[in-house]
Amino acid sequence: MPHDPPPPTTSRSWHLGGDAAERYEAVLVPAILGPAAASFVDRVGPAAADTVVDVGCGTGAAVRRVEAHLAASGRVVGVDRNPAMLEVARRTLEGGSAEWLEGDAVALPVGDGFSDLVLSAQSIQFFPDRSGAMREMVRIARPGGRVAVSVWCPLPRSPYFHALVETMATHIGPDTAAGLGAAFGLSDRDALAALLAEAGLDSVEIVEDSVDLTLPLPATFVPIHVQATPMGRGWSDATDGDRAAVVEAVDRRLRDYREGGELRIPFRQYVAVGRRPA
Ligand SMILES: C[S@@+](CC[C@H](N)C(=O)[O-])C[C@H]1O[C@@H](n2cnc3c(N)ncnc32)[C@H](O)[C@@H]1O
Repeated sequence: MPHDPPPPTTSRSWHLGGDAAERYEAVLVPAILGPAAASFVDRVGPAAADTVVDVGCGTGAAVRRVEAHLAASGRVVGVDRNPAMLEVARRTLEGGSAEWLEGDAVALPVGDGFSDLVLSAQSIQFFPDRSGAMREMVRIARPGGRVAVSVWCPLPRSPYFHALVETMATHIGPDTAAGLGAAFGLSDRDALAALLAEAGLDSVEIVEDSVDLTLPLPATFVPIHVQATPMGRGWSDATDGDRAAVVEAVDRRLRDYREGGELRIPFRQYVAVGRRPA
């Protein structure tokens, strides 16, 4: 199917090319996005026979968890506009039942009413046209079907991200920090509720989901984490001294979360669910 070429890599769009998609799967998914997606999917609770579409599926963090909820009669389709992410998803979940489609959130490549449940995990904040994407998600939900999205709560609610964004802005620069800051672009609960309601969803409910994660200490984790995100370019261009200053500052701010040789630290996301009128 013909499609527009993906946009150029920018620090804010979270469009990760080639080996960045591999690093996303190798670093971010096991440490943060995988547990967050699993918690999101478990809260939403797909039924065993559901047809589920995951919009902005990335390398398949949520799809993997959906598969665990489905029986053989269920079906899950991951959609993403970035072929590099889909390629990693296909390879990582090879042998599973998931299907993968390249497509933009504002023009989803499935028909009206296709799905019982439409999901989008930590993605809608990056879509240039959030309202258009939400209307598309409602279009592909069956009447009476559900649409569910997860987005991070405001930055200070996730102390690791908060420390990292602030120290990156101070020592490396606000443009680079914006690469992670963009993940918090839809962290206003009222704005999130309005987005779902204005797209035509009923019975919208939003809960705060706290996911307690164990991370390596900042000296180990910060460099590998940053290089798996759109902040990687600014990080590579920075001096050794500035990079060391970021690690030290993050380490200092997160002392209270140390448990032995690790950090035990909460990440908080909103889980918003609405129903397409029957
Ligand atoms: C932070 S990643 C989240 C991926 C996955 N849902 C997860 O939880 O790991 C955001 C994803 O949204 C995708 N994305 C961004 N804009 C998009 C758009 N307009 N249409 C479809 N996917 C998009 C990106 O390619 C990326 O895979």
